[in-house]
Amino acid sequence: MRITTASGSPAQLPADAVVVGLWADGSLTPAAAAIDAASEGRLRDLVERKEVGGKAYETTTLHALPGVQAKIVLLVGLGDPAKFDAGAAFRCGSAAARALSSKTRNKIGWFLAEGAAAPHLAASVAGAHVGTQGQDLYRAEKKRQAFNELAVAGGDEKATQRGIIVGEAMNLARLLVNEPAHAIYPETFAAKAQQIAAECGLACDVWDKAKLEAEKCGSLLAVAKGSDRPPRLVILEYRGGKPDAAPIALVGKGVTFDSGGLSLKPTDSMTTMKCDMAGAATVLAVMQAAARLKLPVNLLGLVGLVENMTGGNAMKLGDVLTARSGKTIEVLNTDAEGRLVLADVLNVALDRKPAKIVDLATLTGACVVALGTETAGAFANDAAWCDAVMDAARKAGEPLWQLPMFPEYSEHIRSEIADIKNTGDGRWGGAITAAKFLEEFVGGTPWVHLDIAGPAFYDKPRPWADGGASGCFVRTLVELVSNPS
Ligand code: BES
Ligand code: MN
Ligand code: ZN
Repeated sequence: MRITTASGSPAQLPADAVVVGLWADGSLTPAAAAIDAASEGRLRDLVERKEVGGKAYETTTLHALPGVQAKIVLLVGLGDPAKFDAGAAFRCGSAAARALSSKTRNKIGWFLAEGAAAPHLAASVAGAHVGTQGQDLYRAEKKRQAFNELAVAGGDEKATQRGIIVGEAMNLARLLVNEPAHAIYPETFAAKAQQIAAECGLACDVWDKAKLEAEKCGSLLAVAKGSDRPPRLVILEYRGGKPDAAPIALVGKGVTFDSGGLSLKPTDSMTTMKCDMAGAATVLAVMQAAARLKLPVNLLGLVGLVENMTGGNAMKLGDVLTARSGKTIEVLNTDAEGRLVLADVLNVALDRKPAKIVDLATLTGACVVALGTETAGAFANDAAWCDAVMDAARKAGEPLWQLPMFPEYSEHIRSEIADIKNTGDGRWGGAITAAKFLEEFVGGTPWVHLDIAGPAFYDKPRPWADGGASGCFVRTLVELVSNPS
């Protein structure tokens, strides 16, 4: 999608369509007012007769308005002006782009966030990218088409550029998640990471099975044993900060398919399990965005890539593994594999002495039970770092909710035969006992774990998003690492 600048009135822009916002209280945005004036009050008339509304994400297509050059005026509801934040700007942008993306369009005038603050403009441009890329990777007839040209009003080039980079990063994450497990598995994900790293100037180290064995990654390797596909661990590095500043480590769960292993999932729970590498995809996307934005920060991105399968050599219930840290783990459920992968990846991260860690993982169904599908769970061992992550999510407008980490929960993962076990006692508080397991592997480093099992993959579309991969938390993490403290 080529991005250009639109100047002047939306009524005068020669384009296939112009996108204009409408507030829920009926008041007209400057762009809507310009269309209204050019069309001798048509818009206000429609609003007053309640033919069109400004409810968030509501879109209305108006054809051939008199006085307007573009054949189509797409109105998009922006909701309550008092609640309009970067999250709303992203979602409204994506909703508008979706409404226009059903066929090839040459030029779209983007007046959606004209006059809005820079973060809102950037978020709306990111939304335009996400709204025009669907999950129809293997359909002959595509449901979504990117525009040839998006002409952005507002004249803030820096914000526009940021929106493009963040939108493209989200689409990278979404593409990797939407690709089936026959296309994206540990080796192909690692190859993609190497390609991205070469393109945007990141250092990239890939550990293969032999290296993982030499490094004693017994916990990650145990998960990989059930698959014919060998595992990988990818370490990306971006250095935009002071040479001596300790990096922030971003760690991602990259289970490219989760069958559950011998604790096999039923079909209905397994159908979407190509999404179990969404944490890893998010980490790769954020590393790409950080490098392209030249953010003043040092970052490490580590992703553990395995397929959780049931092959003849698969790990068994009752097996005791020795993680890279030396801790022993009793396996009581092979479907609690994400924490086994992350145990070793977090330990590798510690070697590099990061200042802080954030991990992202589609870790537990229990988190979805607790918070639903819109909200991710946050778990932390450090209040200040947790506040920083929560604050970034608030600024990005992505729903995130902190869950408790009281020491009592740790009792639930004690094992009789090993140091710890990979499930809690019973299923209560499963998202928390999983987080407590991870905490065993971060030493004292300030750490936040984001359980994105709910929002990572939409089983049905939203007004602002197609079904499938959501690209969640790319915007939050870019926000977080943009202002390193
Ligand atoms: N990948 C799943 C979690 C998941 C569930 C992701 C729904 C996305 C949507 C994870 O590996 C898993 O299977 N967790 C188990 C843990 C249990 C066996 C302790 C779960 O949540 O049931
Ligand atoms: Mn699992
Ligand atoms: Zn999993």
